[in-house]
Amino acid sequence: MKQKTIYTCQSCGLQSPKWLGRCPDCQTWGGLVEETVTVAKGGKTVPSASTNTPQRLIDVSVAGEDRMCSGFGEFDRVLGGGTVPGSLTLIGGDPGIGKSTLLLQAAEHWGVLGPVLYVTAEESVRQVKLRAERLGIGATELLLLAENALETILERVRELRPAFLVIDSIQTVFTQALESAPGSVSQVRECAGKLMQLAKGEGVATFLVGHVTKDGAIAGPRMLEHMVDTVLYFEGDAGHPYRILRAVKNRFGSTNEIGVFEMKDVGLAEVPNPSELFLAERPQDAPGSVVVASIEGTRPILVELQALVSGTAFGNPRRTAMGIDANRVSLLVAVLEKKVGYTLLAQDIFLNVAGGVKINEPAVDLGVVAALASSHLNRAVPARTVLFGEIGLAGEVRAVSRSELRVKEAARLGFDRCLLPAGNLKNLDRPTGMTLIGVRSAEEALGHLFD
Ligand code: TYD
Ligand code: MG
Repeated sequence: MKQKTIYTCQSCGLQSPKWLGRCPDCQTWGGLVEETVTVAKGGKTVPSASTNTPQRLIDVSVAGEDRMCSGFGEFDRVLGGGTVPGSLTLIGGDPGIGKSTLLLQAAEHWGVLGPVLYVTAEESVRQVKLRAERLGIGATELLLLAENALETILERVRELRPAFLVIDSIQTVFTQALESAPGSVSQVRECAGKLMQLAKGEGVATFLVGHVTKDGAIAGPRMLEHMVDTVLYFEGDAGHPYRILRAVKNRFGSTNEIGVFEMKDVGLAEVPNPSELFLAERPQDAPGSVVVASIEGTRPILVELQALVSGTAFGNPRRTAMGIDANRVSLLVAVLEKKVGYTLLAQDIFLNVAGGVKINEPAVDLGVVAALASSHLNRAVPARTVLFGEIGLAGEVRAVSRSELRVKEAARLGFDRCLLPAGNLKNLDRPTGMTLIGVRSAEEALGHLFD
């Protein structure tokens, strides 16, 4: 064994023998931090003693891969239909968003299926107990362990052989094998690696809580996301009670799936009908407010877009977008100017997705354009009209996927008119009471809405 000093980039995990002001890989300034590592002498690769041999795909047995339910249908759906034994899941989110609450509530249900070990490396056992009391969690097979030394955690897991393991959080556990501080890239990577071996080896379904950095990524190297099976982000707005659990990587199900929760004073409650919730406070006949039919994962969700277009007081007009990609909005503003002929040059433009939701689907383009036009013309879009469609740079409305689902959801919520890409009209079943209007260009759509 030999001690060696290396410099590790805290944002991407790059290692360098020398200090550098800027990481050559991810271009972050001042990200390289000195760390001491112990390297084994010789550095030769040892031939593996494993007896693994190739086997035919059809001979691989998947029996016993039953999914385990958490009691939250929304959580299980995001995971791809429940937790897979031996899987490793990372849940990231801002502080105070409810990660610990979600896992504690899920742990209550998991406790019915098998022993659960909840390692609390940030809070004391008493704090967790107080929260559990608030959440009304009674006697279950839930074991608490306030510990942040990885070696001790691994030992306890081997003794107790739980079916579920929660590590809250991965940034606060550390291994004695490394000298760097807890939360540093090498610690996080090493601890996650050990926990991965444990999860796979012992078949323990493991959940890691991860902190996020200022720009919203999970702290520690991107590598952490590569190591785990599933990466979930728990997001929401501090000012709103709604929380959205989003899968950004999932080896056991589709990504882009979302689960919607509401934070109440007795913990998290799932919201099975998010469209109703997102539209609940919609102002009637207000210019600038438009409902779009979006798809999140496998599920249609109707959300309200709000635009405000008003004359700018200063030279530089402001362009602000919340819950939607600002570049996309700029592009659509340019389409409105060039292809529809609006003059928006001297206008401040604000665009917001109501309810603190984030949408990143091109199918909402038509809604954005309609909301901007509605505010600019100061004319309301009829309350029971819904839109969807992608807009190209020539102002054309392009077909999108899963139009049937979107139309059905709109009909279910009482909408009676839907503007959609003409290319989507073919073979589309029209729900009773719904008028479907196929449009080919942004201009044509605005004609239908405001002429
Ligand atoms: P927590 O799960 O501790 O967040 P995280 O682990 O992501 O940091 O949640 C803390 C927030 O949730 C806190 O601001 C209070 C709120 N909360 C409720 O509103 N109701 C509850 O029943 C609980 C337990 C927490
Ligand atoms: Mg917490």
